[in-house]
Amino acid sequence: MPIVIDHLSHTYSDGASYLVALKDICFTVNEGEFLAIIGHTGCGKTTLVQHLNGLLLPGSGRVLVDGLDTADKKLRPRIRSLVGMVFQYPEYQLFADTVREDVAFGPKNMQLSEAEVALRVSEAMAMVGLSMEAFAEKSPFELSGGEKRRAALAGILAMRPKYLVLDEPMAGLDPQGRQSILSMLEELRKQTGCSIIMVSHSMEDVARHADRILVMSRGEVKYVGTPQAVFSHNEELEKLGLSLPAPCRVAAMLRARGIDAPEDVCTREDLEAFLLRRLQK
Ligand SMILES: Nc1ncnc2c1ncn2[C@@H]1O[C@H](COP(=O)(O)OP(=O)(O)OP(=O)(O)O)[C@@H](O)[C@H]1O
Ligand SMILES: [Mg+2]
Repeated sequence: MPIVIDHLSHTYSDGASYLVALKDICFTVNEGEFLAIIGHTGCGKTTLVQHLNGLLLPGSGRVLVDGLDTADKKLRPRIRSLVGMVFQYPEYQLFADTVREDVAFGPKNMQLSEAEVALRVSEAMAMVGLSMEAFAEKSPFELSGGEKRRAALAGILAMRPKYLVLDEPMAGLDPQGRQSILSMLEELRKQTGCSIIMVSHSMEDVARHADRILVMSRGEVKYVGTPQAVFSHNEELEKLGLSLPAPCRVAAMLRARGIDAPEDVCTREDLEAFLLRRLQK
C-alpha cells in the first residue's frame, strides 16, 4: 500500500496572522519508489514532508500511510515506525554518549528485545558505512561532519522504515559526501525495497536518481512525473527560479542554435546518447 496525500492544505497561524503554506495537494508515494521533491525556497517542501509522518496535521484533506490516517492519534506510533524522517542537518540531533547508544535509541523505543536492538544497530551502521569496531564506542561529537550525518541516518535506518523521508540530506556536504549519501540510499533501496522521498535543491542528483520528481511552487504541486517529463518543461521551471540540470541546459542551447536535441534530455547519458546518434548520421 502507498502513502496517499488527498487534497491536503495547511495554514500556519499565530493567532494574529496566517499563511497558507500548502494548497490542495494530491499525490501518491508508491511502494519502493524514489520520489524527489523540488521547488524554490519557501514553497512548502518541508511543510509537506512533515505531514508524511503526522508531525504536522492537515488543515483540510487527509494523509493516509498504508491506509492509516495521520490525524488519528492512536495510529501515530505505527505511522512513525513506517515513515522514518531525516531532518535537515540531522547531526544536530545526535545526543548520546556513544554512537552505538545513539543509533539504538529508535529501536529501543520500539520495545524490541536487546538482541534485536543490537542486530538493528550493527545492520544500520554497516548500511551507512561506519564499522562497529571503529565507531560504536566513539562519542558522536568526535566524528567528522560526514560521519555525523551518517550516524544520524543510521539511527533512522535502525527502525527499518518502509518509507524514508529526507529533507535536503546532502546540504552542506562536499561532492564526495553527497555522492556517498546518494550511493548509500540507492543501496538501501536495493537491499530493503523501501521508498525514498527526498527534498533536494540539486537538480543533477534528482535527475539521475529519482524515479519521479514532484515540483512545488507557492504551496501547490506544479508537476509530478519522471525526470524526463518534468525537465522537458524547461522554460516554465526556469520561470519558477529552478536551475535545470546541466545536460538539459546544454540541450536547450543546442535547440536554440537549430540543432534538434530532444526536449527530454536530462542526464549526461541522455546527452551523450543524442550526440553519438548525431555524429553517426
Ligand atoms: N513554523 C512556521 N510558522 C509559520 N510559518 C512557517 C513555519 N514554517 C514555515 N513557514 C512558512 O511556510 C512557507 C513554507 O515553508 P517551508 O519551510 O515548508 O518551505 P521550504 O520549501 O521547505 O523552503 P526551503 O527550501 O527554504 O527549505 C514559508 O513561507 C515559510 O516562511
Ligand atoms: Mg525546507
